[in-house]
Amino acid sequence: MRQTSQISKLTSLRAGFAAVSIFALSGLSGQVFAADPAPMAPAAETKAAAPGKPKVDVAAGEALYSNGDASRGVTACLTCHGPKGQSATATWPKLSAQHAAYTTKQLKNFKDGTRANPVMMGMVATLTEQDMQNISAYLAKQPVSQGVAQNKSTIELGQSIYRGGIAAKGVPACAACHGPTGAGIPSQYPRMGGQWAEYNAAQLLAFREGVRKNSSQMTTIATKLSDQEMKAVSDYMAGLH
Ligand code: HEC
Ligand code: HEC
Repeated sequence: MRQTSQISKLTSLRAGFAAVSIFALSGLSGQVFAADPAPMAPAAETKAAAPGKPKVDVAAGEALYSNGDASRGVTACLTCHGPKGQSATATWPKLSAQHAAYTTKQLKNFKDGTRANPVMMGMVATLTEQDMQNISAYLAKQPVSQGVAQNKSTIELGQSIYRGGIAAKGVPACAACHGPTGAGIPSQYPRMGGQWAEYNAAQLLAFREGVRKNSSQMTTIATKLSDQEMKAVSDYMAGLH
């Protein structure tokens, strides 16, 4: 089962961290460090190794994403963002395979109002930070949803902005932060490839107009882009993979 293998992947990752912290501790306690990684530390011990740091629960994230929580008035995210975060219409952004830290930051920013969107502000109102981390971890594990560029006449302009920026206006290459294939760079720089062009163009406009105030880097960049440049680069990014 896919979900089980994801969880075990996560568990072995954690166990890796636990092994490192056991190694660090063994120096203090004088215990001999067993270098054999085969019998990985069970999850319970891993939890104890990092007190105060809440455990991310991918299964709880999936449940909340897919079913919502009527008792708290949380609408199922799936209703708009689609199964596995692979939204089928440009009205709603694709969320699959996005870096978890980025997604969590967005959910917090909808809640604190630095990213103003009436629909999403309502959606996150009763989510806890733990919920946000759970959902984000679940989404990060879902397959990338690919897209296609639609507008042949602006592909060249879009590509040149994405790869090289616009030197005359001091616009940096988008690829520098969002990666040559649009995969982003964990954990700060979001994945861009395959995202709906209409959504990304709307975000660039929101940065420029100050509706989305959660990234001074992106506000500075968007302020220098014309509507046509925003559309061209967004359409190009939709086809990136
Ligand atoms: C009624 C439709 C709807 C529902 C239900 C919904 N969303 Fe959204 N979501 C949107 C819209 C519209 C946007 C774009 C907001 C904007 O333009 O800033 C969005 C944006 C987002 C983003 C930002 C994506 C990015 O690339 O920055 C995240 C993350 C997100 N939603 C997560 C969720 C989660 C988690 C839930 C469930 C708790 C949820 N959404 C439920 C409509 C919805
Ligand atoms: C210096 C690094 C950097 C460069 C260069 C950069 N970006 Fe970004 N971009 C970011 C960061 C950081 C975010 C996430 C902001 C946040 O936390 O909300 C972002 C977010 C975005 C988003 C919103 C994505 C979403 O899912 O909502 C779009 C669209 C975007 N960038 C487009 C571009 C384009 C187009 C270019 C090139 C003209 C570009 N970026 C260049 C750092 C950069």
